[in-house]
Amino acid sequence: MSKYEYENADLNLKFSEMGVSDITFVSDIEQRSYKYPWTKTIFSDCLSSGYLCTVANFNDKIIGYSIVSISKYDAQILNLCVDKDSRRLGFGEKIMDLLIEDIKSRGLNEIYLEVRSSNKKAISLYEKKGFELIGVRDNYYRDPNGREDAKVFFLNTKKIGYKQ
Ligand SMILES: CC(C)(COP(=O)(O)OP(=O)(O)OC[C@H]1O[C@@H](n2cnc3c(N)ncnc32)[C@H](O)[C@@H]1OP(=O)(O)O)[C@@H](O)C(=O)NCCC(=O)NCCS
Repeated sequence: MSKYEYENADLNLKFSEMGVSDITFVSDIEQRSYKYPWTKTIFSDCLSSGYLCTVANFNDKIIGYSIVSISKYDAQILNLCVDKDSRRLGFGEKIMDLLIEDIKSRGLNEIYLEVRSSNKKAISLYEKKGFELIGVRDNYYRDPNGREDAKVFFLNTKKIGYKQ
């Protein structure tokens, strides 16, 4: 997909609740995107657990998705992914904007997420949206060379100066 095509078809980006029938497509994107991808069973469990599971469709094709756990006091973004061919076109940021709005509309302002410390692209997106580094979990993730730390990020949407 070219940047030109995206800029001329912005309105064709649609978000919908992930359904069981989406899991195959979502899982294909997941396998292409992560060293240790989630299984279809994990996505299925996310649906049955009542997590906020969203797919982003561009021109009627799933190009990204997100999974968010909502508790009484805060939200945790567990997965946010854009398919390889559709990256760097602004979709990741649009999915994040949608999540923040959705979480705020549920009366929640505190959002947490964890990310591999080597994942510079995702960290750049989170910092752009105002997330702050609040901690590190040592040796949290599996890695071909051993273990990798997780960086923990936090956003308070009520923070003075924060604007989407
Ligand atoms: C992280 C990810 C979701 C970004 O999606 P995307 O659609 O490419 O991101 P966008 O085009 O909306 O870019 C938004 C911001 O993200 C950051 N970013 C995205 N790609 C980047 C890259 N290749 N290098 C540096 N920063 C990057 C930038 O801050 C960018 O803002 P800018 O365009 O003003 O520089 C995508 O790379 C992805 O799905 N990666 C694999 C899955 C993953 O790692 N998810 C995060 C798990 S915690």
